[in-house]
Amino acid sequence: MRTKEHILELLEQQRGESISGEQLAGILGISRNAVWKAVKELQKDGYHIVAVTNKGYCLTDKNDIISIPGIKPFLSEKSQPYADKIQIYKSLESTNKTAKEMAVAGAEHGTVIISDCQTMGRGRYSRKFFSPPGGGLYMSIVLRPDVLHFKNPTSVTAFAAVSVCEAIESISNKTPEIKWVNDIYIDGKKVCGILTEAVTDFESGGLDWVVLGIGINVSIPTEDFPDDLQSLASSIYPDERMPGIRNRLSGEILNRILGAETAPSEAEIFKKYKKRLMMLGKKITVIQNQMEYKATAIDVDSYGHLIVKNENGEIITLSSGEIRI
Ligand code: BTN
Repeated sequence: MRTKEHILELLEQQRGESISGEQLAGILGISRNAVWKAVKELQKDGYHIVAVTNKGYCLTDKNDIISIPGIKPFLSEKSQPYADKIQIYKSLESTNKTAKEMAVAGAEHGTVIISDCQTMGRGRYSRKFFSPPGGGLYMSIVLRPDVLHFKNPTSVTAFAAVSVCEAIESISNKTPEIKWVNDIYIDGKKVCGILTEAVTDFESGGLDWVVLGIGINVSIPTEDFPDDLQSLASSIYPDERMPGIRNRLSGEILNRILGAETAPSEAEIFKKYKKRLMMLGKKITVIQNQMEYKATAIDVDSYGHLIVKNENGEIITLSSGEIRI
C-alpha cells in the first residue's frame, strides 16, 4: 500500500480525531516530512484534513469521498480480504460495463468496481440510470457462481435486493421494500435499482460469471432529479448530506454479499425477499410485450417468479416483465 493510502487509512480509523505527525511517522516507519508530503497530496485530492497545532492531523467529518481506506473500517473480518479487490473511480461510463470487461478478462470472484458518478449508467431494458456525482453509490460486483452456489441469476438478484435492503436498514432508520423484480423503495419512491448481467457456460449450461450492478440514491436532493423522475425516485437521505455514509453503506453491502458467514440457501433468500415485497395482495398493472393488464399480485415462487391473478380470475406466473403499482 502506498504511504498516502496508509495515512488515509489511519486517519479514517479515527475520523474526527487528531493523530500527531510523529505517531503517523512512527507507525509507518517514515519521516515526519514524508507524512507531511502525503497529507498535502491527500488534501490536493480533495480530502478535508486539518493540521491542529500540538495535536496533529485530523480527517474531518466533512469528508465525503468514497475510498478503500474509508470502506475498510466497515468491512467484517470475513470481507476484509475483498478490500484488495475494490477499485474506485471518480467517473465511469458504467460500472457494469467495466466490471463485465474485467469478468471476461478473468477477474476473480469479489472484484468490486465503484464510481462516484456514471456518464452512461444503465438500467433494465437499456434505460438510462441517473448517476450524478456526490450523492449516489454506483457499484458492480463480479461474482463467480461456483463460489456463490447459485444456479440462476434470479436468485442472485433476489439475494442482492435483500442484502441491499438490510444494508440500508443498518445505516438508517428507514424500512426498504422491494418492488418486483429488483427495485428498492422507501416511502413509495425508488431509491435503488439492481441490474444483474450474466454469461452462461455453453457446455455445462451453468453460469460462468455474474455482474451485479447496484445503483443507490444515497443523498441526492429530490430537486436534482430530472423532472420525469421527481415523483418516482428519491434518496435514502433526500434532505441532508451525510458525509462518509457511502463508504459505510458500501461496507455493509459487501459484508452481506461477499462476507456472509454462511452462504444462504435459495429458499432462505426467497423467504426474506417475499417478506419485503411491497405489492403482495395489491392491485397492480402488468406490462408485458408492450401490453398492459390489471391483476392482483398473489405470491412469489422459489424461482423469483411473480404469481398474479388477472381480472378473469386466471392465475399467471410471470418470469419476466414489469409491473406498476
Ligand atoms: C434499474 O433500475 O433498472 C437497474 C439500475 C441499475 C443501476 C446500476 S448503477 C451501477 C451499475 N452500473 C450501471 O450502469 N447500472 C448498474
